[in-house]
Amino acid sequence: MNKLTIRDLDAAGKRVFVRVDFNVPLEDGKITDDSRIVAALPTIKSLLSQGAIVILASHLGRPDGKVQDSMRLRPVAERLSHLLKMPVSVTGDALGAGTEDAIKRLKPGECILLENLRFHAEEEKNDPGFAKALASYADVYVNDAFGTAHRAHASTEGIAHLLPAYAGLLMEKEIEFLGKLMENPERPFAAIIGGAKVSGKIQVLRNLVDKVDVLVIGGGMANTFLLAQGKQVGKSLVEPDRVEDARAIMESAAAHGTKIVLPSDVVVAKEVTRGSEYKTVPSDKVPASWNIVDIGKNSLDAMRKALEPVKTVFWNGPLGVFEIPTFSVGTREIARFLAGRAQAGATVVVGGGDSVAAVEQQGLADKMTHISTGGGASLEFLEGKELPGVAVLLDREPASAGGPAGSK
Ligand code: 3PG
Repeated sequence: MNKLTIRDLDAAGKRVFVRVDFNVPLEDGKITDDSRIVAALPTIKSLLSQGAIVILASHLGRPDGKVQDSMRLRPVAERLSHLLKMPVSVTGDALGAGTEDAIKRLKPGECILLENLRFHAEEEKNDPGFAKALASYADVYVNDAFGTAHRAHASTEGIAHLLPAYAGLLMEKEIEFLGKLMENPERPFAAIIGGAKVSGKIQVLRNLVDKVDVLVIGGGMANTFLLAQGKQVGKSLVEPDRVEDARAIMESAAAHGTKIVLPSDVVVAKEVTRGSEYKTVPSDKVPASWNIVDIGKNSLDAMRKALEPVKTVFWNGPLGVFEIPTFSVGTREIARFLAGRAQAGATVVVGGGDSVAAVEQQGLADKMTHISTGGGASLEFLEGKELPGVAVLLDREPASAGGPAGSK
């Protein structure tokens, strides 16, 4: 990565503003998955052990510029205290005299968490005044919030113009793993792209189709590809206005020698609900009033066969209606298969909500090479976009003027 990181920083005695992504799932006020907090620990611990004064800042949810008690960061501060084995208090507000005083009272080796930045509408507007107020707390800025690096907000972009700006260790790790996929993946290289809609992932498909050797497409978005192949998809979720895009992806794959694997058989259900009647049919025999909800066994076998020889895999998005256990078989089986490939030496990178959930639910996270903490951010990175929260960090050396990397 061509950016300065905290390895290049002598943080002793400095006040360091660290943007983290503590946007964790909560149920009844309890954190159901703390992996984003755990992932930020190396940066926080490194700075604290050097004797820095650490001011942590994050958003949680989408409170739309208003204080919402359900989105307060208190549960996060409690979990962080537990993980760091030291008290971490959370301020009443990201701004204000009380917060300024609390920060002034901190000693080297201590940290504090600012209350949810998005309680202020100025955060998402990248308001210069808000960025300046945040910057006034610190001497140095560190961005470790890879999951939010695709947002140009005051705490991810604006502030980095006002303080010397470094990448944290999580940010560095994410960019290294995802960057390697784009620049020099060990081949054969495959991408498995699933999820509900083609529209949300068309850019990533376009960008990957000439870089991968195998492209596996599943989930609701595969329906639009089946339609583009002239198959009927019954009542399934489908985007007829994206059929041309799907066709263009398939043509591009053919032109670049990329093997596309689409479901050859599918699980169909009368209704997309728990307990609904379901059966497996060939993908060209979907009954008119049924819905595709998962890949079938033959598809799974074909996908495993295509993926068996690959040395590098990126996976984003479930292959069926993952929220309903009966229709999550394809997604769970692919997760298990990929864990096995990773254990056999392949590089397996997983990014995005439900695919990560499938891995974690089965206790497979430790077996994968890298689980990205960024859903939207990892997709935008693989779309080939420069993430604003990364672009603004200090360069290690002048960026080279090379063309797009990674094509076959
Ligand atoms: C995420 O969970 O993807 C990040 O925290 C960004 O959140 P956002 O989509 O609300 O900006």
